[in-house]
Amino acid sequence: MSLNVEQLWNNELILKHDLSGPRYTSYPTAPQFKEGFTQQQWMQAVKQSNASKAPLSLYFHIPYCNTVCYYCACNKIITANKKLAEPYVQALEKELALQARYIDSDRTVDQLHWGGGTPTYLSDEQMTLLMRKTAEHFNLRKDDSGEYSIEVHPGGVTPKRLEHIRSLGFNRLSMGVQDFDPAVQKAVNRFNSFDEVNILIKSAQQLGFESTSIDLIYGLPLQNQASFAKTLDKVLEIQPNRLSVFNYAHMPDLFKTQKQIDASQLPAPHEKLSMLYNSIERLLDAGYVYVGMDHFALPDDELAIAQKEGILHRNFQGYATHGSCDLFAFGISSIASFGDVFIQNHKDTDEYYACLEKDLLPLYKGFKINNDDKIRQAVISELICHFKVDFAVIENRFAINFNQYFEAELTALLHLQNDGLLDVNEQSINVHNVGRLLIRRICMVFDAYLNNAKNATDKGPKYSRII
Ligand SMILES: C[S@@+](CC[C@H](N)C(=O)[O-])C[C@H]1O[C@@H](n2cnc3c(N)ncnc32)[C@H](O)[C@@H]1O
Ligand code: SF4
Repeated sequence: MSLNVEQLWNNELILKHDLSGPRYTSYPTAPQFKEGFTQQQWMQAVKQSNASKAPLSLYFHIPYCNTVCYYCACNKIITANKKLAEPYVQALEKELALQARYIDSDRTVDQLHWGGGTPTYLSDEQMTLLMRKTAEHFNLRKDDSGEYSIEVHPGGVTPKRLEHIRSLGFNRLSMGVQDFDPAVQKAVNRFNSFDEVNILIKSAQQLGFESTSIDLIYGLPLQNQASFAKTLDKVLEIQPNRLSVFNYAHMPDLFKTQKQIDASQLPAPHEKLSMLYNSIERLLDAGYVYVGMDHFALPDDELAIAQKEGILHRNFQGYATHGSCDLFAFGISSIASFGDVFIQNHKDTDEYYACLEKDLLPLYKGFKINNDDKIRQAVISELICHFKVDFAVIENRFAINFNQYFEAELTALLHLQNDGLLDVNEQSINVHNVGRLLIRRICMVFDAYLNNAKNATDKGPKYSRII
């Protein structure tokens, strides 16, 4: 039975538990990664990864964007100088060859993602070249059975370009839209018309992209309930298979471009909450399923199906259906996860290029996970993807007694249980519907690196608010 907004929403609980917290696209989260990760450690981890024979996931980061969107919190480089893409694609080619030398080429690539910045900043020829080089080094699935996705900026993309993108093997796409209101678009310097987005999503669906997704943000300057409702109406007319409705994270000290946003134009917290409430109501009424953590999908979309079947996963791109892959990453700031390690590339292009010129991998930071990290990773993943933890599943996988191992955490969950967010018994944790929107808060209890989850707002790395 599908949920309605009343079942998910409890104003009092949201106000009480809406702390800042990680989005858990990984555990441990990126702020834990440390400098000094060596090429030898990388190779050791690759050996371990090859021995596992796990299928591969490949991520390519294309940092360039034509124009700046003031709200942006992504790792990007704003430049209209298209020439910059050329050496970057060459560097990606070199990095592909360097890494591929050590990765077992028989392993199939079940998942591939181009993210940004703006992958569609590349010309058709550059895209073809990059995909061809990838296919030279890796065993790509040629039968369209992989989850091959790309982030598309509607500006500068035509149905013809989408046809080209599809011909390269991409079968899923997400499109940044954020808001259709002209005043909001002006305030954030991001302009997409309903007509262009509508034509592109319809074309993508006709071209056989298995899943199309639109990104929206609530909490942007000059937005209000009425204006955002109009944007949602337009999006519902377009009918993407999935929707991400992100909470605007305004952290101008961290993301310099946000200094161009007039903070006095930001909607008040109660207005933001109403926007979220109305969005959930409208999307559920329109037949979308709330997958969790900002994501909605039509019931026949693979994300909704995977969640129903208990096989949904979470990775750096959000939710995914192919979860057991080892992730290798290419390009500046990209993060890999294989064997027992997380590794992030240099964020700075000069440092990235300098390493590759010396035939060195452009490693910036890394993290070797221990057994405790793996156990907590599994628990957090179960909570985020399925809103429950069956202790037997974790006990069988890691040979622990869940109640003993997590005695302190289970005690800490009691006050969330008293508030009605979840229910804990001897065998399982079950998140109630009203706890779903606050799932990050629940996961934080199992995060060993937030030494005191209650104080996570004051100490350590800065995280965005949950809602
Ligand atoms: C890399 S961008 C998508 C691709 C492409 N660059 C574009 O803008 O269309 C990823 C998404 O992150 C979201 N995003 C960026 N900055 C954000 C912020 N400060 N708060 C919340 N969401 C944000 C936007 O919805 C954006 O579409
Ligand atoms: S939202 Fe997308 S296009 Fe805009 S600056 Fe960020 S990465 Fe670039």
